[in-house]
Amino acid sequence: MPPLRGRRVVLGITGGVAAYKTPELVRRLRTAEAVVRVVLSRSARQFVAAGALAAVGAEVVEDHRGPGMVHIDLARWADAIVIAPATAHVLSRLAAGAADDLLTTMCLATEAPLCVAPAMNRIMWMNPATRANCALLAGRGVRFVGPDEGAQACGDNGPGRMSEPGEILGMLERLWGAAGALRGINAVVTAGATYEALDPARGFTNRSSGKMGYALAAALADHGAAVTLISGPTALPAPPGVHLIPVTSACQMRDAVWACRGTMDLFVAAAAVADYRPQTVLADKLKKDAHTLTVTLVRNPDILAEVAGLTPRPFTVGFAAETGDVETKARAKRARKGIDLIVANPIDEAGVGFAGDDNRVILIDKDHAAAWTAAPKTEIARALAREIIKRLPRTASP
Ligand code: PMT
Repeated sequence: MPPLRGRRVVLGITGGVAAYKTPELVRRLRTAEAVVRVVLSRSARQFVAAGALAAVGAEVVEDHRGPGMVHIDLARWADAIVIAPATAHVLSRLAAGAADDLLTTMCLATEAPLCVAPAMNRIMWMNPATRANCALLAGRGVRFVGPDEGAQACGDNGPGRMSEPGEILGMLERLWGAAGALRGINAVVTAGATYEALDPARGFTNRSSGKMGYALAAALADHGAAVTLISGPTALPAPPGVHLIPVTSACQMRDAVWACRGTMDLFVAAAAVADYRPQTVLADKLKKDAHTLTVTLVRNPDILAEVAGLTPRPFTVGFAAETGDVETKARAKRARKGIDLIVANPIDEAGVGFAGDDNRVILIDKDHAAAWTAAPKTEIARALAREIIKRLPRTASP
């Protein structure tokens, strides 16, 4: 059955220029056989006409203060609430629990999943106040789609463009489509770089941003897995519905993973774990008295190899960040660590690998290697989740 057929979606539209995309979003939802009701904020009416939304098949609900309980009725009716575009203002009001119009009272009164597609100027998006509001909302289980990066209506270029209607639809399909394929599965994902302190001011780390691992954690959670994300220091908010355990060093990451070993069905190691740490962590800041400096490093535990050595062993997926002949090196790494799947990614090509939004991967198991074209990490994560589902014992194909 098509995943959106008969689903009841309340679309909240707030006052941003990206509201011009919402008739197309409604049209796509209706084509996917969803039932759509729309709530327009007062400022949204300056950007999109109620008539245009009704013309493509939505019922536009008026924000009247009559005797009925419109907000409760809508809150109960909805299978999901989507706010697109979601302005910085509405995100701050949702974070604060505001209840001063139909949209916010409905959000406060619902038990349905709440999805937001932020849209704003890039500096507003990066402002610590917005970041904090998003982290708070994500921690409460609000799902975010986007924002995308690119040219903005204000003339700036950067993150803050509302995701395209197809992306928003994709999120709802994931919510309802293959939902449940990983239900009952406990997944542990490592992400980001570790930081190995040398003294109170300095340490060793690497360029991993955590984006790949966070996207994977979100994709696995979308399929119903109970996901624990063990992350080195990053600037990313916890994905919705994911239990985040922040750590700093490789040893802390190993201890956090090890604490999950009794219940782990699936282990995905996307973190760039430092292989070595300084033998001694200095209590005082190192002085630059000498011309050269020798630091003795000692090996860190290999977390992935340790998990792969467990009996019974969870399904284990590793990553290989490599230069040169990536595939050959990754194949050898998969065999050496004794894991089920390895995802090889080059880190010597422009625009993929560390830090950026895109990646290019080769998926390698015992028998095959498949090279995928470069794509956003969020898309690669969703495709990897599907590959994991296919291979995991006891789960159905998505
Ligand atoms: O975080 P992003 O900026 O999005 O970048 C993503 C990424 C490039 C970091 C990611 O896709 C990736 O490749 N992660 C693994 C990087 C890495 O350290 O690869 P490796 O070849 O050194 O390690 C192989 C595997 O063993 C990895 O799964 C790693 O998590 C694991 N490992 C390594 C060392 C160690 N001590 N313990 C481990 O568990």
